[in-house]
Amino acid sequence: MADRDSVSVFAPATVANVASGFDVLGFALERPGDTVVLRKIPQKRVEILAVEGDNGQLPRDPDRNTASVAARRFLEAIGFPFGLEVTVRKQMPMSSGLGSSAASSVAAVYAANVLSGSPLTVRQLLPFTMQAEEVACGSAHADNVAPALLGGFVLIRSYEPLDVVQLPVPGGLAVATVHPHTEIKTEDARRILKKELRLSDAVRQWGNLAALVAALFQGDMDLLSRSLQDVVAEPRRGLLIPGFAKVKQTALHSGALGCSISGSGPSVFSLCVSMQKAKAVGRAMQSAFAEVGLDSDVYLSGINQSGPVILEE
Ligand code: HSE
Repeated sequence: MADRDSVSVFAPATVANVASGFDVLGFALERPGDTVVLRKIPQKRVEILAVEGDNGQLPRDPDRNTASVAARRFLEAIGFPFGLEVTVRKQMPMSSGLGSSAASSVAAVYAANVLSGSPLTVRQLLPFTMQAEEVACGSAHADNVAPALLGGFVLIRSYEPLDVVQLPVPGGLAVATVHPHTEIKTEDARRILKKELRLSDAVRQWGNLAALVAALFQGDMDLLSRSLQDVVAEPRRGLLIPGFAKVKQTALHSGALGCSISGSGPSVFSLCVSMQKAKAVGRAMQSAFAEVGLDSDVYLSGINQSGPVILEE
């Protein structure tokens, strides 16, 4: 496809951390997500043509927008054979904990690779999206960008050197994600975390994370349910989300396997054994947010196993 001049790519929203996997585990949703349209230009630079659907909130400066940053870093790595004009179509909420900046950078870098004739594998695109994440929130974590790029559940075993592991997705697993209408900036949500852990908390966290991975391999929903616990980030970040404790309790009473904060919040996700269960759980979580005066949107989804897709326009 190196001979085409433009391409439009959709990349999905993601749930990072997945309770016990702070900064090392995430999964991709089927919806929502972002679309990025790239067009080749002869000048060797990356320009933002338009950003749609963001109420003017995202940077138009190509050095600060995650889509253009990721595309430019990729072009630099392959020798800048051409330039790009970038249009970002925001189709998901920002500062929501659903990996909005990651969806844009993943769509952009995937599209840039396609326009270049795919010189790099999809996995090799990951570092460029992490660099964009650093520009967006000051931290090059990969637990949104890796699942957005690769689909499914992805574990980051190591950051240096980068080593990511794709995990199996048990059949039928569905997710209800509820986005209350309030914003939390990832930068702020990271600043409030304790910099040191008690050994007893670390033991609980790695026990749960290891069991969660085992549950995905075994398709063991009971073990998955017992493993969806976070004693590291949730106790602090939950305080930033009005009604969080009640929302979580309601989700669990309604039959969710587990419930926690999506990424740095304020969205809250519940994993469920079926889409039917996810519908009921999503409704119940939304009502619990309404009780504290917060409007919200519910996203019901299976686990996205394909990552970015090219849209025919
Ligand atoms: N792991 C990151 C965090 C995800 O929790 O800060 C941010 O979306």
